[in-house]
Amino acid sequence: MKVDGVAYRSVWVDAEDGWSVRIFDQTRLPWALDILRLTTRDQAAHAIVSMQVRGAPLIGAVAAYGLCLALRADASSDAMERDAAMLAETRPTAINLRWALDRMLTRLRNTPSTGRVDAAYAEAAAIADEDVAQCAGIGRYGLELIQEIAASKPGQRVNLLTHCNAGWLATVDWGTALAPIYMAHDAGIDLHVWVDETRPRNQGAALTAWELGRHGVPHTVIADNAGGHLMQHGMVDMAIVGTDRVTRSGDVANKIGTYLKALAARDNNLPFWVALPSTTIDWTVSDGLTEIPIEERSPAEVTDLTGRTADGTIATIRVVAGGSPAANPAFDVTPGRLVTGLITERGRCDATAEGLLGLFPERA
Ligand code: MRU
Repeated sequence: MKVDGVAYRSVWVDAEDGWSVRIFDQTRLPWALDILRLTTRDQAAHAIVSMQVRGAPLIGAVAAYGLCLALRADASSDAMERDAAMLAETRPTAINLRWALDRMLTRLRNTPSTGRVDAAYAEAAAIADEDVAQCAGIGRYGLELIQEIAASKPGQRVNLLTHCNAGWLATVDWGTALAPIYMAHDAGIDLHVWVDETRPRNQGAALTAWELGRHGVPHTVIADNAGGHLMQHGMVDMAIVGTDRVTRSGDVANKIGTYLKALAARDNNLPFWVALPSTTIDWTVSDGLTEIPIEERSPAEVTDLTGRTADGTIATIRVVAGGSPAANPAFDVTPGRLVTGLITERGRCDATAEGLLGLFPERA
């Protein structure tokens, strides 16, 4: 997607040296557009742990490139297995991380160590390119839903609600939940997006609003608690979110607070769609509530807020009195029964085992 007229992906290999890895430092957005240069495995791991990069598909792509950087230092089989295992531990919930590293290892285990670095870069590039193509496919299948809503209310604006950031910053390009929104906006559909701020890390306020603003998509940031009220008053036509892991039975792990939006949508008889590339499906688990590990992050993300003060300084302030503990589960699971459907690069389906197997029969 373009930033001030320049087309970017969210991860790329440096064009000048041909091997170092470039990312945006997402912890600095929306206040600064800083591009980082990653040259080691540890820098790639730090970027994922510290959430300089985040979002399930992007974490997978950066981990794949992180293994490329590791192999430049030591391409032996022992080192490769150790480095892949280390990168796999950087975040627990998004399955794309493990999927990407498994794919890299499958490709590289049978490659002689002398050829491993080149083969690794080729595989990481394929993972990134395929993610772009998958997200574009999600965009096209999701666009049809927005077109249907627009056709049902001629002359009126389509109002969508999204949670967290599932835009191009969370993938290699396009995004998952935001891809249909970009395509609908580009197709001339009059739409507006309610953007959940997404406490505690504010990916909605800091990243989704920034993305939509750069692309010229009308949007309004709301407190996370406002969505149910807006739904009750006819101000939302459809909710659409991304996901970090979907079970084979259609349960959806996504940023904390997603479940409450799904409940509110069901109570108001509104569609609640989840957009994902197939790389986000964990075919090894069925029950999302018991089988998906939920990341527990630092309580400081709840007690503290970072933003820009009136004089332009970036400052962190504490909003909770000293002595009060805070808890910070970073994801929740929305049971498939609350999900209207899944939007994948192969089309849309029910959030059920039968629905998913209908689109991916090779997994039967
Ligand atoms: O903790 P994050 O910011 O990595 O969480 C990201 C999300 O929950 C996104 O909604 C999800 O990865 C889908 S993004 C395509």
